[in-house]
Amino acid sequence: MCGIVAAVADRNVVPVLLEGLRKLEYRGYDSAGLAVLNGGLHRLRSVGRVAELAAQAEEKKTSGEAGIAHTRWATHGAPSERNAHPHISGGLAVVHNGIIENHEALRQQLQADGYLFTSDTDTEVIAHLVEKKLRTITDLFDAVRAAITDLQGAYALAVMRESDPTRIVVAREGSPLLLGIAEDGHYAASDASALLQVTRNMVYLENGDCAEISRSGLRISRVDGTLVERPVIESQLSADAVELGTYSHYMQKEIFEQPDALANTLEMVGAARSVQPGLFGADAAEVLGGARQVLILACGTSWHAGLVARYWLEAIAGIPCSVEIASEYRYRQSVPDADTLVVTISQSGETADTLAALQHAKSLGMLRTLAICNVPESSLVRETALRFITRAGPEIGVASTKAFTTQLAALYLLTLVIAKLRGKLDAETETRELIALRHVPAAVQRVLDLEPEIKAWAQLFSAKHHALFLGRGRHYPIALEGALKLKEISYIHAEAYPAGELKHGPLALVDKEMPVIAVAPNDTLLEKLKSNLQEVRARGGELFVFADADSEMSDSEGVHVLRLPEHYGALSALLHVVPLQLLSYHVALVKGTDVDKPRNLAKSVTVE
Ligand code: G6P
Repeated sequence: MCGIVAAVADRNVVPVLLEGLRKLEYRGYDSAGLAVLNGGLHRLRSVGRVAELAAQAEEKKTSGEAGIAHTRWATHGAPSERNAHPHISGGLAVVHNGIIENHEALRQQLQADGYLFTSDTDTEVIAHLVEKKLRTITDLFDAVRAAITDLQGAYALAVMRESDPTRIVVAREGSPLLLGIAEDGHYAASDASALLQVTRNMVYLENGDCAEISRSGLRISRVDGTLVERPVIESQLSADAVELGTYSHYMQKEIFEQPDALANTLEMVGAARSVQPGLFGADAAEVLGGARQVLILACGTSWHAGLVARYWLEAIAGIPCSVEIASEYRYRQSVPDADTLVVTISQSGETADTLAALQHAKSLGMLRTLAICNVPESSLVRETALRFITRAGPEIGVASTKAFTTQLAALYLLTLVIAKLRGKLDAETETRELIALRHVPAAVQRVLDLEPEIKAWAQLFSAKHHALFLGRGRHYPIALEGALKLKEISYIHAEAYPAGELKHGPLALVDKEMPVIAVAPNDTLLEKLKSNLQEVRARGGELFVFADADSEMSDSEGVHVLRLPEHYGALSALLHVVPLQLLSYHVALVKGTDVDKPRNLAKSVTVE
């Protein structure tokens, strides 16, 4: 989704702005732009890749010591050059992430004041509004503060002015923004990865903060002007972690990083003899132990992780659990229970709907809250009573892979901790479960070794237009995740069904053009699943079955079987998603799609 980079330094900042935008490309965008101050305001915009913007900058020899830059993911107005940021009013330029909800009313007022709009965006309203404030307020910082009191919605923004080339003003409400402190100047960005090229010293702004950066300093205040201090944090993000290295795509890299990501996430149980509530925070024993039910809130792949966890929490910990899509929950009239543990799951910790759903749950009096998140400095982590940070490392590919498996590892730990607090986990089972968890990274590595066979299957899929994924029990959410991966990156229409539902509709779609993928580990539902697969074969459907060592299934006419090396009990969901990730990746490669940046999608969905 949209990204911001801003810089004021003792150097030409254009290369820094462009490199920052490249680092934000993974979030998903459809156009890019930048503006610099250098004896006037110079703006460049392009529909397409940051590389095109860089080529323009090179050709026009654009340079300057203060600048703002942006990658845009269209919300208001089509992806086009006229809608790309920065937007300009007078000698003022603005970049913005988020959505201004009252932009139409503001636009009408500003048009009545004589401002001419040249784009369809909500952002242009901000440019004109600040310009208007500057007619009565001389200082840019004060004018931005005044302007944002008129805004409703979510924003991170950066503003600079031709007549004041030594500083940039930024503000945040709802969308992430941080400052970077370097020896040669000060920087701002929507994501730390954009600034690692110049500094590790970051200042995370809070909602309602405005800041002014110049070469020599920074100043942060609340909207009302009260000055505030925010701590300087040394970012632990590894610069290497966001490099592609020897891989062709981030998604491929991230699929193969899963053994390490899981080992890092499970590091704290590495030598432990028991699972401790403290894994989830200092007050975890009280917060988790007193919960009577669990409500999981998430979006996309993170929602699928929640769906798997429901099977675990109810079967192993004996606690009732419901799982809701955050964008639905936040607007639904539900029945709150103060003793509900609200678990939010998010890779980024910045997904607008997940944040809003959490706030909604809290407003209903549910204060036992936990975030399972991959970004320690994210908004989500700051807003929950408890937290568990998955240690997947930065995930760049839009299609989530290692974040999902590490979320599952965290949710399994949560299940064991709650089971223990509820007296449902005897010492012998606890030891056995810990041994199983420690073996997960090695087990995932053995599944990755099946890549050559999966690659061969991918050839058979690439000409198809539809695919059906089937699973039962806790493997039904894995089928959902497999279908999501395939549609996200290969654009093949894919649907997932619990296999028992087949005859209630989807069977009508099955013919020889419809590949059916079955997630079929040897669990108590395998025999039932086999009957469902017979129903598919009888209609001429071609089956691709991901079985395991104990499944006793083999290839036959129209049935392709791949065995995962070992059967993994309750944790099999964690293993079985991996071949589905690889299948989507290889199908996308055959089809030649943009694997890491699929069309229309964004990595971090910071707007509603
Ligand atoms: C976007 C991403 C998905 C992700 C979802 C939720 O749609 O493309 O991969 O699952 O957002 O994101 P979160 O960061 O909250 O897990």
